[in-house]
Amino acid sequence: MTTADGALPEHVQRNRASWDEWAPDYVADGEVSWRLMPGDEKWGVWGIPERDLQLLPDDLAGKDAIELGCGTAYVSAWLARRGARPVGIDNSEQQLATARRLQAEHGLEFPLIHGNAEAVPFPDASFDLAISEYGASIWAGPYAWIPEAARLLRPGGRLVFLVNATTLMLCMPDEERPATEEMLRPLRGLHRLEWSSDDSVNFALSHGEWIRLLRASGFAIESLIELWPGEGATTTFPYVTLAWARQWPTEEVWIARREG
Ligand SMILES: C[S@@+](CC[C@H](N)C(=O)[O-])C[C@H]1O[C@@H](n2cnc3c(N)ncnc32)[C@H](O)[C@@H]1O
Repeated sequence: MTTADGALPEHVQRNRASWDEWAPDYVADGEVSWRLMPGDEKWGVWGIPERDLQLLPDDLAGKDAIELGCGTAYVSAWLARRGARPVGIDNSEQQLATARRLQAEHGLEFPLIHGNAEAVPFPDASFDLAISEYGASIWAGPYAWIPEAARLLRPGGRLVFLVNATTLMLCMPDEERPATEEMLRPLRGLHRLEWSSDDSVNFALSHGEWIRLLRASGFAIESLIELWPGEGATTTFPYVTLAWARQWPTEEVWIARREG
């Protein structure tokens, strides 16, 4: 199943081209993350252990889950190993090619869909969990993908998504240079971001705007978790230093429940 490029919004077309180009750079991380067994999963750019964060619901057995912007689909693999029935959707056929190869290598099959998480080809109320780790959560338009996640979830279903922390988005010059201790752009109106180093488009909102959007879409907010790297943690990404990330959050996770 796939969506023709011409029918997609401009930012989705640009991100499709960017992610098809970047996919080879994400193979090695995907391979490592696919090997993580239940209890050993690690989140985000600092590899913070699931056992410390407990982002995954503990009652996943038999639940229908969708990963929005699954990339190499290691989060879906984690969900499957915990007994859920995951579906991954991603905008990049190249990322999905890695996901399919890793499925075959690990003997873990689940549906993978090439498409836009802003318009998912599933009926209303198909899932108990929608999850996104740096997927649709930062690369899709929030005013489209959040209502779409609400549509896809059953009453009581959970939405868990990891994004770049709002503070980081104010202090990051671009993707290639580390965050500064100065605010470089206004919080007011924070929404669409384009870095000079590439042609992609990503999105961020203020906390107040996330809360308004989630509530207007039918979610009750359960928590906003700031992620703090452990002492000596490392990252391969150049846009933040450990010293910075131990003072201000680099990434944060929203957990919300679909009201019925
Ligand atoms: C950083 S990866 C996320 C996967 C994985 N959790 C990770 O951190 O590597 C970002 C993924 O989001 C996908 N993506 C971007 N825009 C999307 C959209 N509108 N719908 C679905 N997937 C999208 C990209 O194709 C890419 O594979």
